[in-house]
Amino acid sequence: MRELRDRVAVVTGAASGIGRGMAEAFAAEGMKLVLADVDAGALATTSGELRSAGAQVADVPTDVRDQSAVDALAKAALAEYGAVHVVCNNAGVWTMGAEWETELADWEWVIAVNLFGVVHGVRSFVPVLLDQPEGGHVVNTASMGGLFAGPFIGPYSATKHAVVGLSKSLRAELAARGANVGVSVVCPGEIDTPLVHKVNARPDRDTAAPEMRPDVQGMLGAMRDGLARGMSPRDAGQIVLEAVREGRFWVLPNGAHHMDLLRNEMQELFAAI
Ligand SMILES: NC(=O)c1ccc[n+]([C@@H]2O[C@H](COP(=O)([O-])OP(=O)(O)OC[C@H]3O[C@@H](n4cnc5c(N)ncnc54)[C@H](O)[C@@H]3O)[C@@H](O)[C@H]2O)c1
Repeated sequence: MRELRDRVAVVTGAASGIGRGMAEAFAAEGMKLVLADVDAGALATTSGELRSAGAQVADVPTDVRDQSAVDALAKAALAEYGAVHVVCNNAGVWTMGAEWETELADWEWVIAVNLFGVVHGVRSFVPVLLDQPEGGHVVNTASMGGLFAGPFIGPYSATKHAVVGLSKSLRAELAARGANVGVSVVCPGEIDTPLVHKVNARPDRDTAAPEMRPDVQGMLGAMRDGLARGMSPRDAGQIVLEAVREGRFWVLPNGAHHMDLLRNEMQELFAAI
C-alpha cells in the first residue's frame, strides 16, 4: 500500500508501547487513526495527546478477547471514516513461569489476548479489506519469541509462534484468492515498553500472583534490562510503517542480534532431518 496519506489505520493495544509508536508513525504520515485498547483511561490519554499534536483520532475501548467487541470496533471505524486500510492486531500480554507451574487461567488469558485477539481481528477486518477496491494491509504483532523459544515464557512463546503461523497462512490464502490485501508479521526484539513491568498481571486475578522462583526472577531481570536498552516504540512504529508501504511480510525491529539463536535452531532442525 504505497500511498498512506488519508488512509485509515486501526491499531489494537494502542494506548501504550509499540501500538502507540505505530499510531504516532501513522499520524506523522497523515493517516487517520482508530485506536483501541482494553485500558480505557490510558487510551483516552494517548488519543488526547495525539489529537493535540494534530492527528485525526477515534478511540474505541475494546477487549480483543471478545469477538463481538472487535466486530464493534470494525463497525465504529467504518462509521467514523467509511473505510479501513491498515489493521494492526497488536495487543499483547505475557506471563513468566515454568509451563507446569503456570495457572490454567494464566495460560487462557495469554492465549485469549495474544492469539484470539489476532484471530478476532482477522475475522472482523479482512472481509472489510477484501470488499473495497483499494484493498488494504494486515499487520500482526508476534515476537522474536515466535521464531525461537527460551525458558519460562511458554504461553507467550506458544501464542507468538501461532501468530507467525496464522500470518503465513493468511498471506498464502489472500495470494491464492488474488486479493489486493497485504500481510506483515512483526517480530520485534527488545523494544523499550512497559510490557515487562506487567508480567503475570491478569486483570481478573483475585489473589496475588504466585511468587516467582529464583530462576524465573533471574530471567525476568535480564529481560527488564534488555527492554530498557531496547529500541524506542516510535522507531519500531516507523519500521512497521515502511514495511506496510513496501508490502514486506517479515518485520523484525531490533531483531538482528537474535539471528545467531535463530540460526542455531535452524541448524538443529536441519541436523535432525
Ligand atoms: N516490548 C517488546 O520488547 C516486545 C517484543 C516482542 C513483541 N512484543 C509485542 O508487542 C505488542 C505490544 O506490546 P508492548 O511491548 O507495546 O506492551 P505494552 O504493555 O506497552 O502494550 C500492550 C497494550 O495492549 C493492551 N492490552 C492488553 N490486553 C488487552 C486486551 N485484552 N484487549 C485490548 N488491549 C489489550 C494493554 O492495555 C497495552 O496498552 C505485544 O503483542 C507484545 O507481545 C513486544
